[in-house]
Amino acid sequence: MRVLGIETSCDETGIAIYDSVKGLVGHTIYSQIELHREYGGVVPELASRDHVHKALPLIEEALKQADISKADIDAVAYTAGPGLMGALLAGASIGRSLAWALNIPATEVHHMEGHLLAPMLEDDSIQFPFLSLLVSGGHTQLILAKALGEYEILGESVDDAIGEAFDKTAKMLGLPYPGGPEISQLALKGNPDAYKFPRPMTDRPGLDFSYSGLKTFAINTFNKSDKSYQVKADIALAFQTAAIDTLFIKCKRAIIQTNTKQLVVAGGVSANTYLREKLTQLEDKLSVTVHYPGKDFCTDNGAMIAFAGWLRLKQIEDHQPLSFTAKPRWPLSDLTSPSK
Ligand code: KG4
Ligand code: ZN
Repeated sequence: MRVLGIETSCDETGIAIYDSVKGLVGHTIYSQIELHREYGGVVPELASRDHVHKALPLIEEALKQADISKADIDAVAYTAGPGLMGALLAGASIGRSLAWALNIPATEVHHMEGHLLAPMLEDDSIQFPFLSLLVSGGHTQLILAKALGEYEILGESVDDAIGEAFDKTAKMLGLPYPGGPEISQLALKGNPDAYKFPRPMTDRPGLDFSYSGLKTFAINTFNKSDKSYQVKADIALAFQTAAIDTLFIKCKRAIIQTNTKQLVVAGGVSANTYLREKLTQLEDKLSVTVHYPGKDFCTDNGAMIAFAGWLRLKQIEDHQPLSFTAKPRWPLSDLTSPSK
C-alpha cells in the first residue's frame, strides 16, 4: 500500500509517500520560516495561503521521487489537527479532494500522534507499550503509549510548551525565529558558572511541567544585565540547561513510575543536542533504551503523517465521507484505536 501524507498544521508544508513494502519513497518539505521571520513568529493567514501554493507542486515532486503517478497512490493521510485552523483546512481539503478524485480512502491523522510514531519510521525495535516524551512548539507531554490510538497523558505543561519558551526567550534575546536551534547554538558560547536558573515544578511530586516562569526568569535576568553578547550566551545556556534538566528529572520519575524499558522522544525540541546528551544518562542509570526520530523527522514533516496514516489504514476498511472537519484543538487522549 502506498500512502500519500500531507502535513500543513503550522509553518511547514510536508508531503511524503510511504510504501508499506519499500518504506519512505518520496519526501518533500517546504519551510515557511523565512516568510514569518520578519514578524518574529507564525502569521496564520500567511501560513494558510502559502500551503495552498506549495502543496500541489510538492505532491508532484514526491511522486517523481517515488517514480510513480497519482494513480499508484492507494490512500491519503492528512493532518486534521491540532494546529492553525486555516492551515489545517488547506491540507484537509487538498487531501480529501485528491482521495475523492482518485476514489481511494483518506484518513485524518492527529499531528502529535504523527510525531509520537515518527521514531518508528526507521527503528522497528520500538514496540508498544512505551513511554513517550513529546516536546514541540505547542506541546510538552509525557505519555504512556499503550497501543496505536491509546495514549494516557501522564503529565503536561500547565502553561507554555517548552518549544514556545525557547522561541519566546530567543525573541527577547534578539535571536530570529524559530528560537530553539538559535538558543542551543548561542549556548555553546555560554559560561556555565554565570547563572543558575530554577527547575520549575521539580520540587513537588507529579509529572507536570511549567515553562512560563522560567521564560520570565530569563527575561528579568536579561533586563537587569548589561545586555552584552556574553550575557546573552550565558542566559541561553542557563535557560537551556534548566529547561532540559526539568525534562530529564520528570522522565526519570515517569520511567520509575511506569517501569518502562523504552523511552521515545519526539517533536521539534527532540533535535536539541543537550537534550540527547542528557537523556543518554537514563540509559546507563535505569537500563532503558531512548529512541529519537531521524534528523529529518524531528520537526514537522509529511513522512510521519503518511506513516501514522498507514498504521491506521491497515487496521480499518475506512472510506470516510467527503465532508470533513479540521480540529485546531484536539487532545491526544481523545484518540481511539482504529479498530474500535
Ligand atoms: O514539532 P515542531 O516542528 O512544530 C510543532 O508541532 O510545534 O516543533 C517546533 C519547535 C519550535 O519551538 C522550535 O524552536 C523547537 O521545536 N526546536 C528546538 C530545536 N529545534 C527545533 N528547540 C530546541 N533545540 C533545538 N535544536
Ligand atoms: Zn509538530
